[in-house]
Amino acid sequence: MTLGVNIDHVAVLREARRVNDPDILQALYVACENGAEQITIHLREDRRHIQDIDVKNILMHSKVPVNLECSINREILDIVSELKPHRATLVPEKREEVTTEGGLDLFTHENEISYAIEQLHDAFIPVSLFVDPTIKAMEQSKELGAEMVELHTGAFSNIYAMLNSSLPYSNHSLKELELSRTALSTKLEESIEQIKLSAIHAKKLGLEVAAGHGLNYRNVHEIVKIQEISELNIGQTIIARSVFTGLAEAIQEMKRATRR
Ligand code: PXP
Repeated sequence: MTLGVNIDHVAVLREARRVNDPDILQALYVACENGAEQITIHLREDRRHIQDIDVKNILMHSKVPVNLECSINREILDIVSELKPHRATLVPEKREEVTTEGGLDLFTHENEISYAIEQLHDAFIPVSLFVDPTIKAMEQSKELGAEMVELHTGAFSNIYAMLNSSLPYSNHSLKELELSRTALSTKLEESIEQIKLSAIHAKKLGLEVAAGHGLNYRNVHEIVKIQEISELNIGQTIIARSVFTGLAEAIQEMKRATRR
């Protein structure tokens, strides 16, 4: 299992004060030395954390492949094509969202996504699509010409958090919170099954399969069990833990948690 460490949140902290502290290149160095097998960063249209210069510097100094997440915005795609990361992961992006809230809609935006993939391929950049775990999304990803899919594990993570604590992970409706533990367990099993079936189907279609979003030290073992998933991209929980343990320990611990 490849561990991709998302270091966006190091830049979030830096941008909060607009000083070069914490230094993203120091985070890159510590991550590479302590088990990160890939660095994942997201160049958002609003540049709320990672900046263009960060991408350049990270690409220049990283000892492991760099997976650059981006939207299908024309300006961003031109920058990504020029920067040439080891892989581009296309994600949906809304300015008002706190984080990426769902997978790409591969049907409504079929033409734009198809052009984006073509442009990235012309620049010799392999493409992954961040999608909800459904059979239809796997088939459409293949149809559109992607090499890889990243399965959105947000729904799974939300249900896992609801089941395992009395506090909601994010915006759950009261109705959801009132669901009995049995109903939640069923929902959790269903969400894992959906991820598993999607991963199997994607693999059969010849796609590489990654997963990410909302994964943490407690829930990740469920996803690690799915053999067809070969890569995880994890950010928030690692950077959050690093506040208490340091980044090196936080990554080493995630590496242990994701070992098969
Ligand atoms: N994968 C993708 C495509 C994402 O957009 C994100 C969030 O930036 C992640 C993985 C990491 O999610 P988290 O920070 O919840 O671990």
